Amino acid sequence: MKVAILTGGGDCPGLNAVIRAVVRRGEQHGFEFTGVRDGWKGLLEDDHFRVTRQNTSGILQLGGTILGTSRTNPFKRPDGPKIVLDALARHHIGAVVAVGGEDTLGVASRFHELGMNVVGVPKTIDNDLSGTDYTFGFDTAVTIATEAIDRLHSTAEAHSRVIVCEVMGRHAGHIALHSGIAGGADVILVPERPIDLQDVVRHIRARQRRGRHFSIVVVAEGAKMERSKEATVSDTLDEFGHVRLGGIGAYLAKEIERETGFEARVTVLGHIQRGGTPTARDRVLATRYGVFACDLVKEGRFGLMAALRGDDIVAVPLADATNHLHLIDPALFDIASVFFG
Ligand code: F6P
Repeated sequence: MKVAILTGGGDCPGLNAVIRAVVRRGEQHGFEFTGVRDGWKGLLEDDHFRVTRQNTSGILQLGGTILGTSRTNPFKRPDGPKIVLDALARHHIGAVVAVGGEDTLGVASRFHELGMNVVGVPKTIDNDLSGTDYTFGFDTAVTIATEAIDRLHSTAEAHSRVIVCEVMGRHAGHIALHSGIAGGADVILVPERPIDLQDVVRHIRARQRRGRHFSIVVVAEGAKMERSKEATVSDTLDEFGHVRLGGIGAYLAKEIERETGFEARVTVLGHIQRGGTPTARDRVLATRYGVFACDLVKEGRFGLMAALRGDDIVAVPLADATNHLHLIDPALFDIASVFFG
C-alpha cells in the first residue's frame, strides 16, 4: 500500500522522529511512502516525494521537519476537499498519516468523515490537544523555557529587577506552568485564569519585604487581563482563524514598574521554544507514536489518533481529540501557587 505522511501547523521538536518511525515501521509492513510538502498544502498542490528508509535516516535528533509545514486548511478553499481526495485517488494513496495539532487533526477528522483513510499523531509544544496526556514537543519546550528561567534568575538578582518571561501557550498555560514550577517562578500567569495585576504586585512586594529584591514572572502569551482580549502583534487571521499573539509580557513589565517602582524587563522566548533538537523524552514519545500510528494503518483502523494515557499508547477517535482543548490541571496550579511571592 502507498501511504502519505504530512506534518502541519507550527513545527515542533520531534516531527522528524515521528517521520522516521512511521517509515521504518511501514517498511516492516511492506508500505511505500510519499512525503507531502508543507502539510495539507502539498495535497492541494500535488507536491509530494518518495520517502524511504534512506532519506529518513539520521533525522531522529533534528528539529523542524524534513517535509516542511504550513497552516493550510483545504476546507477554506472552493473545491479544496475534492482536490485533496482526487489527488489521493490519482496517486493510489491508500492512507494518510497526519502529524499535527488541533487544526491539522481537525482537518483530518473532517476528511475521515468524507471517507479518507487517515490516522493522526498529536503534535504541539502547547500540549493543548485533548485525548492525550502529552503531545510530543512539549517536553522540549518546557526544558528550553526552564533553562531560560534559570538564566534570568541570576541577571534579575544581580540588578534587583523584576523580569517577566513570556512563553508560548495560546489557549493553555502548560508550558508556563511546568517551566514556572521547574524554574521556581515567583508568579505564573496562564490563559485559563485572568491576570490580577494587584495580586502580582502583592507577591513582588512580599518578596521585597523579605529581602528578595528580584522576582521572576512567567506569563503565557495567551494570558489576559479580566475583560480584555489577548495581546496581539497583528490582527490578521490565519486559515484556522488565529491571530498572532504577543505583547502581554511587555505590557506587564511596564505595569509592574509603574505600580511598584521596581525596575522591570521582559524576555520573550518565542520560537526558540520550537526550534532545535528534541529532548530524549520527546524522541521516545515521537517514536512510540510513529510506530503505533503505522500499526493502526496496517490494521485498517482509521479516524483514530495515537495518544498517551498514563504510560500506554492507545488509540482515540480524532473527533474526540479535536473537539475541545486540554487545559491545565487546577490542582497543579495550586501546587505552583504555594511558591508564589
Ligand atoms: O501552536 C503552537 C504555537 O507555538 C503557539 O503557542 C503560538 O501562538 C503559535 O504556535 C505561533 O506560531 P507561528 O509563529 O508559527 O504562527
